[in-house]
Amino acid sequence: MANPFTNPAPQILPSILSADFARLADDLADAQAAGGDFPHIDVMDGHLVPNLSLGVPIIARLREVSTSFFDVHLMIDAPLTYAPAFVKAGAQNITFHVEAPEVKSDLVGAAKEIRKLGCNVGITLKPGTPIDTVFPVLDYVDLVLIMSVEPGFGGQKFMVDMLEKARRIKPMLKPHQKLEIDGGISPTTIRQARAAGVDWFVVGSALFDAKDRKAAIATMRSELAAAR
Ligand code: DX5
Ligand code: ZN
Repeated sequence: MANPFTNPAPQILPSILSADFARLADDLADAQAAGGDFPHIDVMDGHLVPNLSLGVPIIARLREVSTSFFDVHLMIDAPLTYAPAFVKAGAQNITFHVEAPEVKSDLVGAAKEIRKLGCNVGITLKPGTPIDTVFPVLDYVDLVLIMSVEPGFGGQKFMVDMLEKARRIKPMLKPHQKLEIDGGISPTTIRQARAAGVDWFVVGSALFDAKDRKAAIATMRSELAAAR
């Protein structure tokens, strides 16, 4: 699959945290057949966020059966330690948190190290963290991810206040840099996120739990097209 960083169109990323883990590959394929673009993969360590999800072996196995671009969101304390294993497993974008203890004193160094692995690099922040924490690392990343829920769980309510962060950061990004949003994106919230400048939309429960996934995606695409 072509690297989506070169694609100017808005992208809808099925968040596999909401997929049926007993049939993960099929459920992801179904979400993509319904119109989703490429997967967003949430990794949690029970430290940076109060939950555990999945790790390297699952991504490696999924890589064997999927040709899609893998956007991996590391909600872990030590992203630098584990990034090589995730890239080897098939991650193509690695997004890490400004709050991660291993990297918070040297975000630029961490971004450079991760890039050396041959992947794209993203930076993200929790809802309570001010947006200016990402400013120093902007020149070294391909993507900024705005968390619009407290990271750790799918199915939470969209925090509309987080759009202010999107509005502030968007003018600071270069044309090749993407603005991504994660948490509570649905047919009713996606339009305002687009209007705030977002390029990539992570969608978990609003896609995987939809009775009609195709209709859910179609509605979101028309909302994207209608955004001003
Ligand atoms: C939350 C994860 C999200 C989650 C989004 O910590 O980072 O990617 O899957 O789920 P929804 O779309 O249901 O809010
Ligand atoms: Zn995520």
